[in-house]
Amino acid sequence: MLEVRHASKIYGSGPARVAALNDVSLRVEDGDFVAITGPSGSGKSTLLNVIGGLEKLTGGQVILDGRRIDDLSENALVDIRRKKIAYVFQQYHLIPSLTALENVLLPLTFGASNGHAEQRAMELLRRVGLEKRAGHKPSQLSGGEQQRVAIARSLVNGCTLILADEPTGNVDQKTGIEVLQLFEQVNRDGVSIIMVTHSPEIAHRARRIVSLRDGEVVSAG
Ligand SMILES: Nc1ncnc2c1ncn2[C@@H]1O[C@H](COP(=O)(O)OP(=O)(O)O)[C@@H](O)[C@H]1O
Ligand SMILES: [Mg+2]
Repeated sequence: MLEVRHASKIYGSGPARVAALNDVSLRVEDGDFVAITGPSGSGKSTLLNVIGGLEKLTGGQVILDGRRIDDLSENALVDIRRKKIAYVFQQYHLIPSLTALENVLLPLTFGASNGHAEQRAMELLRRVGLEKRAGHKPSQLSGGEQQRVAIARSLVNGCTLILADEPTGNVDQKTGIEVLQLFEQVNRDGVSIIMVTHSPEIAHRARRIVSLRDGEVVSAG
């Protein structure tokens, strides 16, 4: 279970001061699928980034499985990010020179890359419907396929929580629905998902919706 308690995040000072998050509290139960919506600049990405430890809070706490994680050292955070939390971005962030299979394997290569790892990566590519594309480079894949590779990569370490920032922001509507269906399938398999989207249609596919405005929660389903 993930809990955000009274989170605040202030950027800059004086006239440049921006309260990107202002006293945001949120609970995400294991197996939940939450959409975070709101207009541009409302703090969606900031909220995701403080949950994932990519940015430090100005105030408040983030608690994962009963343990405070917002005040952890960089090393301890890397460990959590590797084992429990995975990120999926709008821009996919695949390595252009690597094949789909190698991209999925990447998070594992700091452990031992071996036949077992490769088997697991292939299994994940199959799960996202891309086993026939395993040897393709990102430039040979459509946007939707690249995002599916990115989702397979996010799952390779057995994470329990996916943080997705506008994962359908770069693909057409039909492909966006496919990406969403994949998230739904991953969620049914027990992975919790927090997905940022400015699209109400996409948001309504989640189990519940949290809306932000000017850094504050204005409604939570
Ligand atoms: N690194 C930063 N420095 C200063 N201001 C920032 C920074 N990142 C975000 N902001 C500001 O914080 C607010 C929330 O940004 P963000 O979380 O990116 O919104 P969203 O993802 O909802 O579009 C915006 O006003 C944005 O300009
Ligand atoms: Mg954003």
